[in-house]
Amino acid sequence: MAGLDKHFGTDAGLDTKPAAEIAAWLEKNASKRIESGAKEPRLTTTAWFKREHREVAAKTWQDSRVKSPANCAACHKGADQGRYGEREIDIPGVGPYRERD
Ligand code: HEC
Repeated sequence: MAGLDKHFGTDAGLDTKPAAEIAAWLEKNASKRIESGAKEPRLTTTAWFKREHREVAAKTWQDSRVKSPANCAACHKGADQGRYGEREIDIPGVGPYRERD
């Protein structure tokens, strides 16, 4: 019987690990959603945001139509529907975004 107890204990141990992994995965992906939802001001200070926006000129961020990096919709015309694709970017004072090569 002592062996059976141990067996159950092992089973419980096996169940715990995947749950923790799923929780970690959910947490990671949930925070990604918050980022694309663009309601979290601190998003604009992340390395991710800076990397994605390195082509945006300093004077663009200061443009009165932009005012703040958190004003996603100033450039991302589909932002209110959660769309941030390259083809829906129109930068005030610059124009539609085009990949530079
Ligand atoms: C001043 C204009 C401007 C503002 C404001 C702005 N973006 Fe961008 N965004 C751009 C440009 C330009 C790119 C570059 C596209 C590229 O290089 O692929 C970009 C890229 C992105 C990308 C990657 C798109 C892709 O397909 O590669 C995402 C996602 C994004 N921005 C989200 C946001 C969010 C969220 C906000 C608000 C918190 C925001 N942006 C504010 C101009 C802006």
